[in-house]
Amino acid sequence: MIQYHDILDLQAIQTLWNREVGFIYPIADDVFLRNVTSYPNKWVLGAYDDDTLVGFIITKTSNDSLLPAYLDRGWISLFYVAKKYRHQGIGSTLLSGGEASLEGKNEILIGSDLFNFFPGVPTDFDNLTDVWLTKRGYFGSRSTHDMFCANIMEYPIKNMNMSFSVATKEDEKGIIELLKTFSDRWAHEGIRYFEAGGTGHEYVIAKHEGKVIAFARTNDRSFPYGGYNITWHARFINLGGIGPLGVHKSYQGRGLGSDIVIYALREMKKRGMIEVMIDWTGLVTFYQQFGFEVWKTYKYMSKKA
Ligand SMILES: CC(C)(COP(=O)(O)OP(=O)(O)OC[C@H]1O[C@@H](n2cnc3c(N)ncnc32)[C@H](O)[C@@H]1OP(=O)(O)O)[C@@H](O)C(=O)NCCC(=O)NCCS
Repeated sequence: MIQYHDILDLQAIQTLWNREVGFIYPIADDVFLRNVTSYPNKWVLGAYDDDTLVGFIITKTSNDSLLPAYLDRGWISLFYVAKKYRHQGIGSTLLSGGEASLEGKNEILIGSDLFNFFPGVPTDFDNLTDVWLTKRGYFGSRSTHDMFCANIMEYPIKNMNMSFSVATKEDEKGIIELLKTFSDRWAHEGIRYFEAGGTGHEYVIAKHEGKVIAFARTNDRSFPYGGYNITWHARFINLGGIGPLGVHKSYQGRGLGSDIVIYALREMKKRGMIEVMIDWTGLVTFYQQFGFEVWKTYKYMSKKA
């Protein structure tokens, strides 16, 4: 008889997941700590066969005032039913519980939460999950990708009149101002990064006349709150991540987007990264120019209240 209750030993989630899907998406300890254990606004439900966890759902909300649009949203961050226990209604019961935990929210999204594992539903599960979710009222829209490169090459920078560098703490204001012109989420990430002691090392920037006019986030594993693009680092030898990146509106259209990628790649190589991931992107042809190819694909899925 399956029983449903709170999960006191959160590590059991990581163990179940890694045992069954760790060969594709291994959740490393630091990532589990970042995305689950230390994330404050989470809710978990476990399905147990005696004392054994056989399925779980993790939902999240956000009360971060820097992200007003997120206050009305709820996320299913991670859910899973052990293969041996499927087709018994466990997934449906967990999903209902997860949805009830998000009551009052206008929209429920699969993945894309703060400190997310996935930007949407991964397509590595026999395309089962999106069909299953569609039957349960979720709507699938576009796909998005992680892109990967294991052969970091050197390319020439075009805009030699701009100065490219790894950011320092002095660049904080300029970076945040630029991030704000793109998205609340990117700005939030930047603000929280510097608040948490980030020195600037995780951003490369281009400046013109002293003003930060382009940026790319560059993640290695030296900063504890890393970035989403190194979530699956346990699969790789030494994985770095690039992105998000952006060029100020008034400087777009002159190759600076490519230049900042090229500079970020040089930096990755200099730091000894063997592979580089760009997460959560639709710019497939743009990144293909630099030797990246699609690594994983995810489908955005959500349900309106
Ligand atoms: C999607 C998932 C949760 C479904 O788990 P599950 O426990 O098999 O779910 P259910 O048993 O509730 O539903 C599966 C099917 O079994 C059927 N079923 C339910 N009870 C049943 C029973 N007693 N006997 C036979 N079939 C049954 C359901 O009707 C359902 O079929 P339907 O989709 O055609 O309606 C599971 O496949 C999974 O973990 N996939 C990976 C999840 C994932 O992608 N996670 C990452 C993103 S966060």
